[in-house]
Amino acid sequence: MTHIILDTDPGIDDALAILLAAASPEIVLDGVIAVHGNVSTEQTTKNARSVLELAGLGHVPVFRGCDLPLVKESLLSPETHGNQGLGYAQLPEPATQPKAGHGSDFLIEQIMSRPGEVTLVAIGPLTNIALAIRKEPRVVQNVKEVFIMGGAIQHPGNTTAQAEFNTFVDPHAAHIVFHSGMPMVLTPLDVTYQCIFTKDDLNRLLKIDSPITKFIADSTRFYMEFHDEYQSIEGCVINDPLTLALTYMPEICDYQRLAVDVDISTGVGLGNTFADFYNYEKKKPNMKVAMGVRPRLFMELFLERMETLARQFS
Ligand code: RIB
Ligand code: CA
Repeated sequence: MTHIILDTDPGIDDALAILLAAASPEIVLDGVIAVHGNVSTEQTTKNARSVLELAGLGHVPVFRGCDLPLVKESLLSPETHGNQGLGYAQLPEPATQPKAGHGSDFLIEQIMSRPGEVTLVAIGPLTNIALAIRKEPRVVQNVKEVFIMGGAIQHPGNTTAQAEFNTFVDPHAAHIVFHSGMPMVLTPLDVTYQCIFTKDDLNRLLKIDSPITKFIADSTRFYMEFHDEYQSIEGCVINDPLTLALTYMPEICDYQRLAVDVDISTGVGLGNTFADFYNYEKKKPNMKVAMGVRPRLFMELFLERMETLARQFS
């Protein structure tokens, strides 16, 4: 069993990652930390609790993290995820409250109390992770592994021409995390943009009448409209569930050990992530990067797990 702390900015694909966590017996979700990103931290904290309760994980503690990036102004993405962050989906007010204390302190406490046992999955801007590293640098040696959704290595950006959303929103936090020495696995747009959830995939799920499939339909309908209007993609890119799946099914992707950096200069490249493939800088690789993917292997896993979860609540 893999014990996971999820740092997330739900967000439609974040919500799908939470549903996948609920449908994955391979993992134990020990806690969720909400971060600013797709919507405000107040909203991501509420959305995390609502989606956890929808998926039968209302017992999982949720902590509120940072409201703002370390240096930059906040950037939200209502055009992508809707003003409330879950597209057209309407979930009941969460019955649970967030736990007291800052999410970065919860992350430190979990990692330091269980050395080598906690896997961190970060699928939003990396502000909370960077803050935890600065507060308690020993988390670097005591975390088991860190799976990060972010960056675009040889793929165009989805927020600027070069930059992916999570690293653009808080490039300084990404810089701290990327240079921390943590054992990292990066899931960049290079692989996530090959994993498109389509209307056919959705129609397969809708054969099951369940609040789970209704939520997936109502949330992804908005997300598909965004992808069609802004990127002429038929379907929607489900970045975050792919990242979570790699914690227990790494064979979905092929990896390269690379020296990866993020641009924190103030020019047009801010937030851009790049790999020194020819090692000009003679630096050691700082992470494993998923650069190849088996899209249908992942999508079949995702659909089968969603069908199982939907039947649980039908
Ligand atoms: O660029 C995609 C990433 O940014 C995803 O994690 C999405 O939820 C947003 O946070
Ligand atoms: Ca996210």
